[in-house]
Amino acid sequence: MGSTVAQLFANIISLKYLPKIHPHRIRKLFRNMSKTLDIEKIRSETPGCSQKIHFNSAGSSLSPQSVTNAVISHLTREQTVGGYEAAEEAEYLVNNFYVEFAELLNCDKSEIAFIENSTRAWELAVHSIKWSSGDQIITAENEYGSNYLGLLHVAKKNALDLITVPCDEEGVVSLDQLEKSITSKTKLIALTHIASQRGDIQPAAAVGAIARKNNVLFMLDACQSVGQVNLDTKELNCDFLCGSGRKYLRGPRGTGFLFVKTKILQSLEPIFLDLHSASWRDSKSYEFIQGAKMFECYERNMAAMIGLSTAVQYLSKLGIDAIEERISHLSSILIAGLSELKDTKVLEKSHHRSGIITFTKDYIDAKILKRELQKRNINVSVCRQKNAQLDLGTELNGDVTRVSLHYYNTQQEVSKFIQALAKIK
Ligand SMILES: Cc1ncc(COP(=O)(O)O)c(C=O)c1O
Repeated sequence: MGSTVAQLFANIISLKYLPKIHPHRIRKLFRNMSKTLDIEKIRSETPGCSQKIHFNSAGSSLSPQSVTNAVISHLTREQTVGGYEAAEEAEYLVNNFYVEFAELLNCDKSEIAFIENSTRAWELAVHSIKWSSGDQIITAENEYGSNYLGLLHVAKKNALDLITVPCDEEGVVSLDQLEKSITSKTKLIALTHIASQRGDIQPAAAVGAIARKNNVLFMLDACQSVGQVNLDTKELNCDFLCGSGRKYLRGPRGTGFLFVKTKILQSLEPIFLDLHSASWRDSKSYEFIQGAKMFECYERNMAAMIGLSTAVQYLSKLGIDAIEERISHLSSILIAGLSELKDTKVLEKSHHRSGIITFTKDYIDAKILKRELQKRNINVSVCRQKNAQLDLGTELNGDVTRVSLHYYNTQQEVSKFIQALAKIK
């Protein structure tokens, strides 16, 4: 009922009176209005919350029970009636994957592909661009390590020029330098929205605007931002956007997605094809199917896909704005606590922070610190300097500890963590 009313208002307002406001924004506004998160309920629906202090959502978060139930339920059907038959039964749930993501990212469902992880989604996209020798790619020094390797690889294979733009004193890509680096040869800007090794949120929409103005493709790695930050592909002006299911979306492992803007689909040529992504015309020809599904494979983990769809549905019911606010609130409490500790240095520089906080502690190796915290029932992770060498290499001499908070974490957990950290010497 609520969503019908919201839809009605969206249509009336957007079409007749305020043509510039997209109906999606209005629907979201209605959905998020006066939403507060019931943390106790959320935690009771998340079995992992009673086991440990899980501060590793940037690695892999704790799934809600409903997500695990959806996966198990589909696996059980596969076991009972057969894999193909179970997929036929679950056709609605499978299709719902695209509907949920389209709503989350403000795009069309035909612009979404299910891919087994974010790295593969990113690679499929980048390798589908029709490169010419001498074309230029621009990225930032905080680009995700695997993507950077991927860029080196695609540049080597196609004789491309790879430019790396530095970050400024706010820890975000310098827009000025980025714009100055664009030439007539620039074909792609590849940006990671929130880096793995630093939680500053990059100015993705501003980068998208620069890309659009200069008629350059824009690829956004939203692996760490999807599920904790509101993402609107239209506002971001991105051509590609990829992400992982197991991180802030709270889906199962081995899941990911790729968004590809309809407008550019015709200009791309996926490197792999099968009878799902293309149709076989005759002995000499074939044709890619319409939409982002041309990046998919026929065979995939249906249970995991349904699990991820369930996770996105769960998230949408809570409301991304409420989630973003909660994470940001917990994050500032954590930073305040860390700054009280004399031997701890936080790496994040900007005020636009996420649930990812990284730090070093004097005289303690990050791996040892992680083990010590684990003994105290607290999960954190380590970001290796070698894997982010263009970013961390300029400033540090070793690995860093990463805390990644989700909305299901609590202020009490943050306090316990700070107390534990203070005692480890
Ligand atoms: C920023 C970023 N991009 C991409 C990835 C890769 O995601 P996946 O493991 O799903 O390929 C990660 C993983 O940690 C990441 O942090």
